[in-house]
Amino acid sequence: MPRAPDTLNRQAEEFILLHHSEEHTDADTGYTERRLTDIRAEISATGTYRHSAAELAFGARVAWRNSNRCIGRLYWRSLRVRDCRELSDAEDIARESAAHLREAGNGGRIRPLITVFAPDTPHRRAPRIWSEQLVRYAGYATAGGRVVGDPRNTGITALALRLGWPGGPGTPFDVLPLIVQDGDGTLRWFVLPDDAVLEVELRHPEGGWGAEWGLRWNAVPAISCMCLEIGGVCYPSAPFNGWYMGTEIGARNLADTDRYDLLPRVAERLGLDTSSDRSLWKDRALVELNRAVLHSFDRAGITMSDHHTESSRFLTHVDREEAKGREVGADWSWIVPPISGSATPVFHRTYDATERRPAYVQHPEALAHTRGEHLV
Ligand code: ARG
Repeated sequence: MPRAPDTLNRQAEEFILLHHSEEHTDADTGYTERRLTDIRAEISATGTYRHSAAELAFGARVAWRNSNRCIGRLYWRSLRVRDCRELSDAEDIARESAAHLREAGNGGRIRPLITVFAPDTPHRRAPRIWSEQLVRYAGYATAGGRVVGDPRNTGITALALRLGWPGGPGTPFDVLPLIVQDGDGTLRWFVLPDDAVLEVELRHPEGGWGAEWGLRWNAVPAISCMCLEIGGVCYPSAPFNGWYMGTEIGARNLADTDRYDLLPRVAERLGLDTSSDRSLWKDRALVELNRAVLHSFDRAGITMSDHHTESSRFLTHVDREEAKGREVGADWSWIVPPISGSATPVFHRTYDATERRPAYVQHPEALAHTRGEHLV
């Protein structure tokens, strides 16, 4: 929501000075002072201000750098920014979101990318993407209380159906339509074109299992429910992606008991003794499921990192930032991978959790239909 002018002035100034101090925007003497004067005038005339393209790109990149939950921040400078700030119609957002997925997917060589749509202004609320990510799988609640698909998405699936989406074929991996809320509050749904959704069929390197179960996952994790906040300006529709780390799929999406809950099935296929937790059947099934995920992405030629590589990259990132005189905020419980934590170097230390701006923040109203904490 729009900020009171004095708060906005202060946040704008803080951001412009940060941009100045890191990118030396004052090579042209006096630029920063002039920019601040212009922004103050613009805020007093219109209640908001417009970022330059350079400010927008810097803000989006630093917001990634400031994401305390993200282990993949080493490449924060490489984030590409698609400037779609002039777009605020739901159709345009759906079309450009599909274009985003194609450009990010890049035939398998995944590129970190953000598309920034219209910001909120004091006169007009910007549209919002209600879908948690651009690509999500439906979760159909059945009469018996079982869910076909991803149980995480039963809320948004029910909403899509209520809005008139006819539903998919009913597989466990039906791609949901994108749900976009217009500036006037109307909710609309848009089916993503097939060629925008890059997916990988999953199979175990030795057993080959997975294929016959129809296991798959999408290749581009594009979070679409977070607001990009830069210098007091809120861009509620700003889908962004990096590439997957295998454990997100193999140790969480497919394994959590409130998601696809596949460990019992994998253990059975592996012939493990599931009569007691002490046989460590869950642990063994987790490892094999994660091997299947990494193997399948590799075989398909699609970028994916593993938790060992990404952990050591993260510590490189921390060192590089510290060498620049910047402290890296981090949330230990999100940074440490969900399997083999202590076998990765990120486990064996603590982090400062200070939150900084610019940042990607949750906007609560779009998340009302999902549940609490571990949203991404
Ligand atoms: N954990 C989320 C998922 O499994 C994606 C979060 C972002 N991940 C990323 N590698 N950029 O869908």
